Amino acid sequence: MVVNLNATAAHTLLMIAIAVLAGSVDAQIEDGWDVAHATNYGSMNGSETMQGACGYGNLTEQGYGLETTALSTALFNGGLRCGACYEIMCRDSKWCLNSTKPITIHVTATNFCPPNYTQPTGNWCNPPLKHFDLSQPMFRKIAIYESGIVPVAYRRVYCSKHGGIRFEMKGNPYWILVLVYNVGGVGDVTNVKVKGSNTNWVQMTRSWGQNWVTGAPIVGQSVSFQVTTSDGRMVESINVAPATWKFNQTFEGNQFK
Ligand SMILES: *[C@@H]1O[C@H](CO)[C@@H](O)[C@H](O)[C@H]1NC(C)=O
Ligand SMILES: *[C@@H]1O[C@H](CO)[C@@H](O)[C@H](O)[C@H]1NC(C)=O
Ligand SMILES: *[C@@H]1O[C@H](CO)[C@@H](O)[C@H](O)[C@H]1NC(C)=O
Ligand SMILES: *[C@@H]1O[C@H](CO)[C@@H](O)[C@H](O)[C@H]1NC(C)=O
Ligand SMILES: *[C@@H]1O[C@H](CO)[C@@H](O)[C@H](O)[C@H]1NC(C)=O
Repeated sequence: MVVNLNATAAHTLLMIAIAVLAGSVDAQIEDGWDVAHATNYGSMNGSETMQGACGYGNLTEQGYGLETTALSTALFNGGLRCGACYEIMCRDSKWCLNSTKPITIHVTATNFCPPNYTQPTGNWCNPPLKHFDLSQPMFRKIAIYESGIVPVAYRRVYCSKHGGIRFEMKGNPYWILVLVYNVGGVGDVTNVKVKGSNTNWVQMTRSWGQNWVTGAPIVGQSVSFQVTTSDGRMVESINVAPATWKFNQTFEGNQFK
């Protein structure tokens, strides 16, 4: 998906693309780069970025750290985009932090930047605007904090995650909710199937963010999962939870290569 241009080539390409675009907000840049704007939320410790609309919990413990962003409606896709990874750089503004090479950050989508239609002047997260509300530490890597908002270029990139996909078992025996996180590859999960040792594969339903739910009777059975991402690839984790699994436990499965 991502062509690994070296930074200088990417920058040159970007500058040409931006020149061609001449301010058009929605047009697509060459090589998967697109344009948007970025703001930031929360403090430097990022505690306000935890427990967002994607259903993740403590992002430090879950491996996302502070390298996260909230997405506007146009990018969020009703929560299906949760877990997607982006490379972002500030562009074309006096507020961009300068360097001999373009400064880019890599972030995972963990939250939603809600629209606000009552706001008199344009709310940056209203449709159809593509907008990243970054954690403050990430915003400060590419732009002067006091600017508040900067134009950016961005593209989807593969997610670099440590270890396997994690499955947090929540809910109750009749309504089992599984949070799927630390997903590599393109990162955004579009389908999950579950199998108890005594059941067939059962389609799970997405509840919200990356929380998937099933009514299948899998308590007291070892549990397997099939996780499919937006590029159509699937990773199977067989018997990832033992028959003795308990609610609120998290299990580690296989990972996208
Ligand atoms: C993070 O920073 C905010 C604002 O400075 C503060 O209110 C909060 O207590 C801090 N949280 C942690 C966990 O340090
Ligand atoms: C998240 O987990 C880390 C590491 O366990 C901990 O230091 C931090 O206080 C937690 N943050 C919140 C907001 O609970
Ligand atoms: C970055 O460079 C531009 C163009 O030279 C300049 O206008 C801007 O003030 C610089 N920004 C910072 C933060 O130094
Ligand atoms: C929406 O914007 C208005 C006007 O700025 C503000 O008073 C209100 O609190 C905002 N609503 C939310 C949910 O942020
Ligand atoms: C799981 O965690 C939730 C939230 O912390 C708690 O309300 C619930 O009682 C826990 N369930 C079990 C079985 O430990």
